[in-house]
Amino acid sequence: MEVSPNDWTHGSWRTRHAAQSPTWPDLDHLARVERQLATKPPLVFAGEARTLQAHLSQVASGKAFLLQAGDCAESFDEGSADAIRDKLKVILQMAVALTYASGVPVIKVGRIAGQFAKPRSDEFEERDGVRLSAFRGHIVNGDEFSAEARRPDPERLLAAYHQSVATLNLLRAFTTGGFAALSRVHAWNQEFVANSLEGKRYEVVADEIERALQFMKACGIDLHDDGALQGVDFYTSHEALILPYEEALTRQDSLTGEWYDCSAHMLWIGDRTRQLDGAHVEFLRGVANPLGLKVGPTMSVDELVSLVDVLSPDNVPGRLTLIARMGDALIDEKLPALISAMRTEGRAVVWACDPMHGNTFVASGGQKTRHFDDVLSETSKFFSLHQAMGTWPGGLHIELTGDNVTECLGGGSRLNEGDLDLNYTSICDPRLNATQSLDMAFHVAEFLQRYSAGSGARSL
Ligand code: PEP
Ligand code: CO
Repeated sequence: MEVSPNDWTHGSWRTRHAAQSPTWPDLDHLARVERQLATKPPLVFAGEARTLQAHLSQVASGKAFLLQAGDCAESFDEGSADAIRDKLKVILQMAVALTYASGVPVIKVGRIAGQFAKPRSDEFEERDGVRLSAFRGHIVNGDEFSAEARRPDPERLLAAYHQSVATLNLLRAFTTGGFAALSRVHAWNQEFVANSLEGKRYEVVADEIERALQFMKACGIDLHDDGALQGVDFYTSHEALILPYEEALTRQDSLTGEWYDCSAHMLWIGDRTRQLDGAHVEFLRGVANPLGLKVGPTMSVDELVSLVDVLSPDNVPGRLTLIARMGDALIDEKLPALISAMRTEGRAVVWACDPMHGNTFVASGGQKTRHFDDVLSETSKFFSLHQAMGTWPGGLHIELTGDNVTECLGGGSRLNEGDLDLNYTSICDPRLNATQSLDMAFHVAEFLQRYSAGSGARSL
């Protein structure tokens, strides 16, 4: 089907096929909920989304780095203040290490305050001969294995909205109220270095950061008073999968007349819903938020060029982030042609690496898992490819939690398959725990330092 640029409305996606959509049992009920949501206040403001896009334009030109991280799927059962604080804490800790190593600002975007919907590879799940609809995230149905829980319920859209409101409120307080102060985040990193086996490797980097802070202090910058060091900009993002929810929160900006999906600052299109003539591409092409597009191993060069044409027709830097999720085994084969096509065609995109989704497998005990070494290896290859091609490895996209979970194998604490059941709480994909996440950040800090040492000037 021809994608025409001029006939977009916030509901024009409805004439297209929406892959991965739940079968709602009562469409009148869904429509009632949509009308209710449409009267609710926006979660984020258009101006904030524009500021994020401006930051991402810096990433596109190699002058900043993107860290996008959070849950695979947020849970209605786990929205406590402590869980949100601990997730934010680990993201801030990672960002400090990456900022120091890259020497450029790190743009922090959470998979949070709206990351409730999941695409699934199988429409059904079967256990002991019983077949039920797959769990599609708490915005759609429940994760318990019962017919009742698995029935899609539109009331969940409202529940997702309200949990996002509460989460965002807390994030705004934490990121501006002193919790995120640089000196404090650095002290947490020092704790990680002093108290964990995997932290010891990073003593040198932590000491260097300490010296840099002392230097700033000696120059008269009060680390506990300087406004720029007391808080951080933190943005929200999620996969825009459930389009009735996204449309209901889409509003016209009174300042510019453009439409913004005010459910999050940044929205991305998943690898399973990126059909050129599909509903998700149709909806997102018309909103002015910065967008992400997952790029998996089946993406061809022609397909990518067409998608970039539709999603970023004006080629505005920062509008589009391509999130490569090839898997460690395929990245060297698949990614170079795509990077090269974007460069040759002069597309001002951000390239980010999602080293999680191409490296998932089922352990012998039946749990979905990923190995830290594969995650790290894919990331390392992503940096090397960009280095070789003279392009900027603009960001990292990670699934993590601040809790001490046992979902991914390996890492400094050498989790093995027998450990997976100790504390496996993800309702969807396996996440790095706090220690594995920091370990990852310090490794990536080394990749960034190697990159800077190896390339004269950064170019697109
Ligand atoms: C995800 O990010 O949780 C996800 C489902 O990713 P992808 O679309 O890349 O498979
Ligand atoms: Co996931």
